[in-house]
Amino acid sequence: MNHFHEISANELNTNVFQSIGKEWMLICAEKEIDGKPVANTMTASWGGLGHLWNKDVAFTFIRPQRYTKEFVDHSDTFSLCFFGGDKMQEMTYLGRISGRDEDKIQKSGLTLTHIDGVPCFEEATTVLICRKLYVQTLKEDCFADSSLISACYPLKDFHDVYVSEIQKVFVK
Ligand SMILES: Cc1cc2nc3c(=O)[nH]c(=O)nc-3n(C[C@H](O)[C@H](O)[C@H](O)COP(=O)(O)O)c2cc1C
Repeated sequence: MNHFHEISANELNTNVFQSIGKEWMLICAEKEIDGKPVANTMTASWGGLGHLWNKDVAFTFIRPQRYTKEFVDHSDTFSLCFFGGDKMQEMTYLGRISGRDEDKIQKSGLTLTHIDGVPCFEEATTVLICRKLYVQTLKEDCFADSSLISACYPLKDFHDVYVSEIQKVFVK
């Protein structure tokens, strides 16, 4: 039983520099493994919210080695969960350990729930339900400032950028 109610994206009163950059978010998606739905999640602090193609959108950046990427790639939808500066310890754990190695959702103590069939967390203060629109891997040749390559990609593990429509916004 969750206690969220829906608002419009326009009503979202969020400073994204604070909420994404400083307080972080969880990207959560689900896929079937052996015929059963399984969720995975990871912490993200790079990304944005904006307006593109006449839609309210989220931009998320996922490196190729993240287990969560497999879940996001297998699903049309995923959630972005915000905790308003709370649950930083849990998010630090979820951003250090891979779901390939541990049942990290269970170990984090966060409570998995679903809104419209999309996995998200009961403890979140804001949940964005996102539908993928566009995915592309960042290209080395396209960096206008090439110092970012050595600074952020010493392994050349360029992020995939996901542009997703924010279908629904839920708050507590
Ligand atoms: C504060 C913080 C922010 C992070 N931001 C991102 C991000 O934006 N994109 C990304 O690919 N990984 C990011 N990570 C790393 C992933 O969360 C981390 O590698 C995680 O363990 C992946 O888990 P998974 O393999 O279960 O998907 C971040 C980690 C932390 C701690």
